Amino acid sequence: MRIDIVTLFPELCDSFLHASILGRAAAKGLFEAHCHQIRDYTTNKQRQTDDYPYGGGCGMVLYAQPIADCLREVQRQCAAQGRAKPHIVFMTAAGQPYNEEKARQLAACDSLVLVCGHYEGIDERVIEAFGDEEISIGDYVLTGGELASLVVADSVLRLQPGVLAEAQGYQEESYWDGLIEYPQYTRPEVWEGRAVPPVLLTGDHNKIADWRGRQSRARTRLRRPDLYEQWCLTHPLAGAPRWKRSESATLVRTDSQWQAAAQLLAGWEGEQGRTADPAALRQQLEASRRQGWAYYLHSTAHQPDGLVGVCHKTGEIGRLLVAPEARDVGIGQKLLEFARKKLAEHPRPYLWVEPHNLGAVGLLLRMGYRLQSAESPETVPTGSDGTPLAKYRYTPSETGQS
Ligand code: ADE
Repeated sequence: MRIDIVTLFPELCDSFLHASILGRAAAKGLFEAHCHQIRDYTTNKQRQTDDYPYGGGCGMVLYAQPIADCLREVQRQCAAQGRAKPHIVFMTAAGQPYNEEKARQLAACDSLVLVCGHYEGIDERVIEAFGDEEISIGDYVLTGGELASLVVADSVLRLQPGVLAEAQGYQEESYWDGLIEYPQYTRPEVWEGRAVPPVLLTGDHNKIADWRGRQSRARTRLRRPDLYEQWCLTHPLAGAPRWKRSESATLVRTDSQWQAAAQLLAGWEGEQGRTADPAALRQQLEASRRQGWAYYLHSTAHQPDGLVGVCHKTGEIGRLLVAPEARDVGIGQKLLEFARKKLAEHPRPYLWVEPHNLGAVGLLLRMGYRLQSAESPETVPTGSDGTPLAKYRYTPSETGQS
């Protein structure tokens, strides 16, 4: 790959591209980088590169001419090397937001040119004439496009074959698959009283991979709910997980089963920061039977660790929850499928979910359920402060799995 940066500060960009990992990769010939001084292409005596904006206003605007001539020279050099026409990107705060997906697209170019603006901007006509796109690296304004172009160059060049020592390096990293990276640790095992998570010392690669996957998903859910939802939509859960011999789901009917169901529910309410009295919850659960609800208790090795309710009258699935210590092993998925089978008479069962409950939203999205409406149910539940809780209604999509 060939990368060209068109700038008023070529030395600055050059020193970055020829240092550290990128410097070594360039020396090995894994890519070619060239930085061009816009000023060298001026045609006026003072070698002036900018002027006052037409229409007034503060700051200066870069002339179109020197940038255009510089770009023509880069195009000529690429042609002389037998390369395709370079892809030209203008770095501006008004461009499209940059992300890893864009980095992967640009990494596939044989030749990429990044044009850095300065001062108040660049004469729009040269962007129109030469630009394939405009990119912004974030919703903030920099004094110039140099840092932005280096961000793009770095993230694109590290994807070139051979630049990173291990090909797996970039496949596992943040955003590669739409998830934030899991936490990393190195020696010593205990640092200032903080121990490395024990699973990382077991040498059991499957267990470590599972743990890292869970960490990535949990971190993404907490820190970047937007990325998490996107990831769930593009990563449907495959097939129905097998029930283990030690697992069961039984209709709640005995005293001890009602008790266990109410305890699980109280634990969940507590996690949401709401205080809940198990006895009152039990009363609510039992009373809802008259509206057509039936509840099923999931147990692993006779230990209750999950609950789901189904309403035969309406086709609603509710109170789907898994105890904290039993999460991330597929119990939620099994219970949702179980509930759907119980409601076989309803082709499109539905659930109400609070939008901030990303654990549930993620499970539903991955199981092919889609948002149907954002209205509140008829009996709007209220939070501890008495305000109604917004809930979203999800239902299996026509084409979705499960
Ligand atoms: N130039 C000034 N601010 C910028 C930004 N946020 N992204 C890209 N180029 C810029």
